Amino acid sequence: MTATTFPASAVRLTKDWGRIFARNTQQWQQFSTSFDESTVRLEPEFIKSIQAFQLTEQSEGKRLMTIAKEYAARHDAPDYVMAIRQFIGEEQRHADYLSRVLHANGAGTLTKQWTDSIFRHLRKWVGPEMMLSLLLMAEIVAIAYYSSIARASQDPQAKKLFERILQDETIHIQFHCEHMTSFTPLVDALRWGGQRVFLGLVTIVIWADHGHVLKHRFSSVLEMMGYCNHLLTKCMKTALALG
Ligand SMILES: [Fe+2]
Ligand SMILES: [Fe+2]
Repeated sequence: MTATTFPASAVRLTKDWGRIFARNTQQWQQFSTSFDESTVRLEPEFIKSIQAFQLTEQSEGKRLMTIAKEYAARHDAPDYVMAIRQFIGEEQRHADYLSRVLHANGAGTLTKQWTDSIFRHLRKWVGPEMMLSLLLMAEIVAIAYYSSIARASQDPQAKKLFERILQDETIHIQFHCEHMTSFTPLVDALRWGGQRVFLGLVTIVIWADHGHVLKHRFSSVLEMMGYCNHLLTKCMKTALALG
């Protein structure tokens, strides 16, 4: 779907996202005062999985910034560009913390990983609406993942970091959902149906790669799928209520 399918309308939001992201930055500053990555002990069997997620978190966001400007102009949402810049900053902060704990555990970071490459290629070709859908998928998967690895980690500092990242990802879902545009009922039904199918496929792929982490929270890929679907439904209700 391209940008030309967007109705030119103002976006209705329930939150001042600029202020929320700014407040969160302060909370991370407080977090950093009581966090020492050199003491974090990661389970060796989770290292590869954490490396893959670290790479996913690390995005320059150039394409996203371009799309945000287009979206802001089309929807009379001038604050969106700044909010997206702050959002990208939050994801890069996650990447930075994960990189630091990986290095503290004698592991490096990756420059390439197959699932990350698929998402990066997809992002190059989509317009704003599809980009929001992709971001949403990534947030849903991130929530499932960080809640699993927080539960699976024995080290209190590692647990604390994963729980802190999880807190951000939960907010990010709401951020993206509030910016999803509503179309006609039929187009909306098709779009959300399509997203459900895509999310199911993404869940299977993520389970194949990270099942050994995810099984600490979900008994099977089907349970994880149900949970992800539940998050998507909540998002859909938010988006349609505001649309
Ligand atoms: Fe993140
Ligand atoms: Fe996120």
